[in-house]
Amino acid sequence: MKKQRLDKFIANQTLLSRSIVRTGILRGNATVNGEVVRSIGEIIDADSDVITYEGSDIGFKEYVYILMNKPKGVLSAATDKSRETVVDLVPSHIKRPNLAPVGRLDKDTTGLLLITDDGVFAHNCISPKKAISKSYIATLDGDINDDMIFAFEQGVVLADGTKCRPAKLERIGENVARIIITEGKYHQIKRMFGTVGLGVNDLRREAIGGLHLPDGLNEGECIEMTKEQLEIAILNKNE
Ligand code: URA
Repeated sequence: MKKQRLDKFIANQTLLSRSIVRTGILRGNATVNGEVVRSIGEIIDADSDVITYEGSDIGFKEYVYILMNKPKGVLSAATDKSRETVVDLVPSHIKRPNLAPVGRLDKDTTGLLLITDDGVFAHNCISPKKAISKSYIATLDGDINDDMIFAFEQGVVLADGTKCRPAKLERIGENVARIIITEGKYHQIKRMFGTVGLGVNDLRREAIGGLHLPDGLNEGECIEMTKEQLEIAILNKNE
């Protein structure tokens, strides 16, 4: 199945156009098993041959898994007619067709966001059945108190009557709280704080299960991970 033309393979893996890749191959920018190959129609075996292009390994990957520190002002969507999306921020060397965010963060929310083209993985991460925890740091327009902590523990009822699962609320500073939920309703955290009369001025997701936003990953930056690394990290401490 994985036998195909070198130019097609590199173009698919890198999202560069076939004509750019062909020029690159003719210039000697591609190697197959360590040897420079200048024949654009070379047939390669994507399962067993080691291919590089412009010095980067272009190994066959069925899916890609990207961890992003989402910045403010960017839409959690694959595409949009006029607004910048999180997928627009993915660097070209890891970009692929069909990438989409795993769940959504609001436009003004920052922090940990996964992006993948593996729909099954994405579904499992956000499925309410899996109850994977999501931890956020919220800066509020007032302070939390013990009654609110208790109400969140019991599961608050949103203004439209929706009952939320029990959530863990912790005061970590003046007007700053950590909140851990195991579901992902629309604007959930803002609506939950709304039920106790508090507004959310700033919201950052710091963790999904045991997977934390890595230190040093600035807003707008991404790293590629394997599915196994993500699954281990997420399930490791699903508090
Ligand atoms: N809850 C919200 O209100 N917004 C988010 O972006 C995520 C959770």
